[in-house]
Amino acid sequence: MVDAAGLESMLDFVHVNGTVRFDKYMGEHLFSSGRGFYDKTVIISGKNGHFTTYAEHPTFAYMIYLAVRSQGMLGKDFLEIGGGSGNFKLFYLQHAPSTRYISIDASQRLAVFQADVGSDTLVGNAENLPFADGSINGIIFANELLDELSCRVFKISNEGKHVHIGSEGYVLEKNGRLAFTYLPAERNDFLLLYESFLQRFRPNIINGSVVCVSPTLPKAVSEMARVLGRGKIILMDYGFWDDPSHANRKFYNDLPFFNLGGSRYTLDEALKNPYETDITHRIDFEFAKWIAEGMGFPARLFNIGDYFENFAKLTGGDERVWQRPSISQGIWEFTASISEVVLEITK
Ligand SMILES: C[S@@+](CC[C@H](N)C(=O)[O-])C[C@H]1O[C@@H](n2cnc3c(N)ncnc32)[C@H](O)[C@@H]1O
Repeated sequence: MVDAAGLESMLDFVHVNGTVRFDKYMGEHLFSSGRGFYDKTVIISGKNGHFTTYAEHPTFAYMIYLAVRSQGMLGKDFLEIGGGSGNFKLFYLQHAPSTRYISIDASQRLAVFQADVGSDTLVGNAENLPFADGSINGIIFANELLDELSCRVFKISNEGKHVHIGSEGYVLEKNGRLAFTYLPAERNDFLLLYESFLQRFRPNIINGSVVCVSPTLPKAVSEMARVLGRGKIILMDYGFWDDPSHANRKFYNDLPFFNLGGSRYTLDEALKNPYETDITHRIDFEFAKWIAEGMGFPARLFNIGDYFENFAKLTGGDERVWQRPSISQGIWEFTASISEVVLEITK
């Protein structure tokens, strides 16, 4: 059902600004104070949930625990950014109860659930972490955070191997409704940065390709690196990288979208119902890795199944834990999956 008041407010927001660059629209839709989807509405998982995630499964937390343990990081700090329902925190702390676990989330609504689990919880943004330089020693972790960072939608032209971002997505008002359209791209520093990445690493990208990429991603990665003393940053999400297993999957020309009840809905559906749905996009993980390397940090990409299988093999785990139905039922799903990508940054 369309929320008329929400549509009215968003039309005002768009009207005041004329046309709105897509990332500004997405930020308002998801995080506007008191109205935004993550501030007011979101329910993760369960019967009435808007979507579910890997982190809702106990096996996922056990796999992360094995990864942390095999890297000798148990007992060190664990900072989770964007912890959603708090279930990951709950499951993880069952394996490593003495961890100094801090969760921080931009959504007040979700931070309440994380606080209920115990341990420290803060409301705050990945792009502006409220911690001193080098004050977290151990792990910084986020699952499905990057795809909620508001993205720009770039349409790429590539004629005669000259990669150029010519236009990008905007939202405007059309006959009392919201519509997505392409207009000339705003050629600011972030666009130039992403364009130079494409020119260097994707010189053959097909003319007319569309890619979503968040201008706040570099800031978020640099904030994580700033607050980390020594340890690993582990970022997981749906996206793509230059692995052969991704070669035949169609990641370009993929506009932002949302999932509900197991089905995928288009951006047009989100625009009909401002503030009331999630909006997400696929992450260009090669770009995120390049950003981390540009800051001088070694970074590696994995498909999630390979990442987990590695650690499960290495550490073996605990027989009694493996045999728990809540854990064993998920093992195959996680070790065989290529759905998510893992970016591991070392400092
Ligand atoms: C898709 S949910 C994923 C939740 C959880 N990690 C999971 O996998 O179930 C995205 C989470 O990131 C949080 N979030 C989004 N943008 C954020 C930001 N800029 N800073 C901190 N948290 C953010 C949301 O409030 C939400 O908790």
